[in-house]
Amino acid sequence: MKKITIIGTGYVGLVSGAGLADFGNEVVCVDINKEKVSQIEDGIIPFYEPGLNELVARNVETGRLSFSTNIGESVQESEAVFIAVWTPMGNDGEADLSAVEDAGRVIGQNLTDYKVVATKSTVPIGTGEFIRSIIRENSKGRAEFDIISNPEFLREGAAVSDFMIPNRVVIGTDSERALALIKEVYRPLFINETPMVITNIQTAETIKYASNAFLAVKISYVNELANLCDENGADIHTVTRAMALDGRISSKFLHPGPGYGGSCFPKDTKALVHQAKERGVNLEVVKAAIRANEFQKSRVTEKLERLMKNDLDNKTIAVLGLAFKANTDDVRESPVIPLLTFLAEKGCNVRAYDPKANKNMAKLFPDVNYCSSIEEAVKGVDAAVVMTEWHEFRGMDLARVGELMNEKVLFDARNLLSPNELNRIGFRFENIGRSSVR
Ligand SMILES: NC(=O)c1ccc[n+]([C@@H]2O[C@H](COP(=O)([O-])OP(=O)(O)OC[C@H]3O[C@@H](n4cnc5c(N)ncnc54)[C@H](O)[C@@H]3O)[C@@H](O)[C@H]2O)c1
Repeated sequence: MKKITIIGTGYVGLVSGAGLADFGNEVVCVDINKEKVSQIEDGIIPFYEPGLNELVARNVETGRLSFSTNIGESVQESEAVFIAVWTPMGNDGEADLSAVEDAGRVIGQNLTDYKVVATKSTVPIGTGEFIRSIIRENSKGRAEFDIISNPEFLREGAAVSDFMIPNRVVIGTDSERALALIKEVYRPLFINETPMVITNIQTAETIKYASNAFLAVKISYVNELANLCDENGADIHTVTRAMALDGRISSKFLHPGPGYGGSCFPKDTKALVHQAKERGVNLEVVKAAIRANEFQKSRVTEKLERLMKNDLDNKTIAVLGLAFKANTDDVRESPVIPLLTFLAEKGCNVRAYDPKANKNMAKLFPDVNYCSSIEEAVKGVDAAVVMTEWHEFRGMDLARVGELMNEKVLFDARNLLSPNELNRIGFRFENIGRSSVR
């Protein structure tokens, strides 16, 4: 059991903190956001993540998990410090490392004895060395420390199981002492033989970007194929099902949609291109994936306009799904944002419903009429657009939805609904890449 501080109590910090406490460690999650910390101390999780409430409550009850805004004090008492602060997109796609730098400074100022400093935030290659220099500068040789790159691969919506039963754990370090300590931190995962990739810091940092960019490329590729299927009478679902039967391809991330969003893929692809450019390397494939994703978002609005026979002005539209994907309330970079902007420009009256993300989207689009059910959202509308792959939407009663709408017009931007059923009920509809079954 190790004493740990997690700096940054967001999606990654809170899930990792609670998960490491569940592994038997004594964890303090710290943050500069006082309101957030006091909310969590009151048992309120500031975002929706399945299973996280229970994981946090269980570990708080055992006394292994606590929260604080006194970062320095917590660092002093810890053997390992994890940096899990945000690394948003800065100028020209570059990752903004100011929060990482702040964290490094506090660690340096409070380095009382040997500590391992592990970075969970997604940071450009070379940041490990940058953190080392900041800590060195601020600790003035008071104590020794080692740096680890320990990128996090959890997915929002499945974060708890991804953390507790990961596909792999990546540990980048140049220190045997640090490796021995981190092995103790992750002891249950070593015992159950979770694949561990132990490598140098630069390689670990590269793995995270390489993985996210690859997934973004895969999504953009399938979206472009779907657009081709739209125009050539093919069905993207049958195409991808057949592709996935080739073991080299795999069926995951072969679902077309309105473009990727979220807090990671958009910023991480751009940050990777930026850092490659700085080293004189051209990542043409990743750049193309970024462009294709931008195009996909505009294709959603184009297809909706076409479906509405170029007569969208002042219409009432239901938007079903606001989160960037299902099982989260996160709307960061959601492909719904450009859609809502477009509908506002057209003077449309928007009725929106998301099982979890209404509140977050209302901060960005206060003028939208937020509803508490599918039925409420579709009442009297001229068209509906399905934007997030919530199960609830898959199972919606299309006959009832059709009855409630002013016009039976629907754009299924996630291909959740059966074209046969939509046809049977008399919908005029669009989907992504399924022209053969429309
Ligand atoms: N969200 C994901 O699915 C995911 C998955 C893997 C990796 N990541 C990476 O993990 C990092 C964190 O992402 P997130 O989604 O948890 O972000 P988040 O925005 O949910 O949380 C970041 C937290 O850091 C805190 N913070 C900022 N500066 C701080 C400082 N100087 N000291 C202490 N706390 C500070 C903020 O108050 C906030 O609570 C990012 O680098 C991200 O790219 C995210």
